[in-house]
Amino acid sequence: NRSLNILGIETSCDETAASIVCRAPDGSGEILSDVVLSQLDVHAAFGGVVPELAARSHVSTLDRLIKQALEQSKMTLDDIDAVAVTAGPGLIGGLMVGLMTGKAIAMAAGKPFYGINHLEGHALTARLTDKIAFPYLLLLVSGGHTQIVLVEGVDHYERWGTTIDDALGEAFDKTAKLLGLPYPGGPAVEQAAQSGEPGRFKLPVPMRRDPRLVFSFSGLKTAVRQMAEHETPLSKQTIADLCLAFQTAVTASLDDRISMALERFKARFPECQDPALVVAGGVAANKAIRSSLLARTQSAGFHFIAPPLNLCTDNAAMIAWAGAERMAQGLPPSPLDLAPRSRWPL
Ligand code: KG4
Ligand code: ZN
Repeated sequence: NRSLNILGIETSCDETAASIVCRAPDGSGEILSDVVLSQLDVHAAFGGVVPELAARSHVSTLDRLIKQALEQSKMTLDDIDAVAVTAGPGLIGGLMVGLMTGKAIAMAAGKPFYGINHLEGHALTARLTDKIAFPYLLLLVSGGHTQIVLVEGVDHYERWGTTIDDALGEAFDKTAKLLGLPYPGGPAVEQAAQSGEPGRFKLPVPMRRDPRLVFSFSGLKTAVRQMAEHETPLSKQTIADLCLAFQTAVTASLDDRISMALERFKARFPECQDPALVVAGGVAANKAIRSSLLARTQSAGFHFIAPPLNLCTDNAAMIAWAGAERMAQGLPPSPLDLAPRSRWPL
């Protein structure tokens, strides 16, 4: 039983990231360095992530970021106990860049190598920041994922709900685009909604009371498009009103789906003293969504845990931490011929 220092690497989407995390024998964690380079400026002109450009950008920056992460933590590869790299899900080109780099470092330094599921990284972050105990519920809402996951233990995950079409962040991005707002759409929609007039446009709440624990957002986006088409010219005020209507509808949908998940959790774990809902993903930055989730979890008797924003969005500390948790559990390292997986459900 000793402390573990793990080098983490994340290149699954449009963030290039490297980090060193230390896990103490008592299960607490410390981030020794956490370097993230966003490719936003590379993709902004295209209104979305361009996979080929993302992969090239990872190639040209990853080595430097790993060096920085080591320097900032005042460590050399000798001090590292294992290398943990995102192996999926994500864009295949970026995953290959991260995996090849991580495997080469692990092999050259003679350290174990762990291929990590990106979603496991998001799922376990709350144990790094808040030391919370299993089991708990995770709501992951990002540009690529919308999931409710039961986290019962390291390597014990149950996906309870997912989206049948767009991810929530993707729905924000597409809605912003059709209203002429910049990318990424989430912050732009939230900002516009602040000057929206409540009730001018009314959108249905997707999946309300549906007995299946699923999400759907593409219908909303289409409804916004149709409403916008009837409003010519599209004034700034109308855009704000539509953004508010969209944000209000998705917030109500999340609230409905989450309250169902919390009930299920209570029925499954009636003896759980300290139930908690953890949120992760870029959409968790949305203030309207956050305060609605806070109110719902508290009235259901759950703790509401939102890791700091830089750990909610993509980063390598969560990948290093997942590697540390796996290693501490005695789970075996991955083979060096591990293949990247663009799709990889938890
Ligand atoms: O987790 P993240 O940084 O990257 C991945 O998708 O992996 O999430 C980015 C997503 C984008 O779709 C962005 O529009 C959305 O999170 N987002 C927001 C807000 N800030 C970022 N959505 C709603 N409100 C926000 N304030
Ligand atoms: Zn992510």
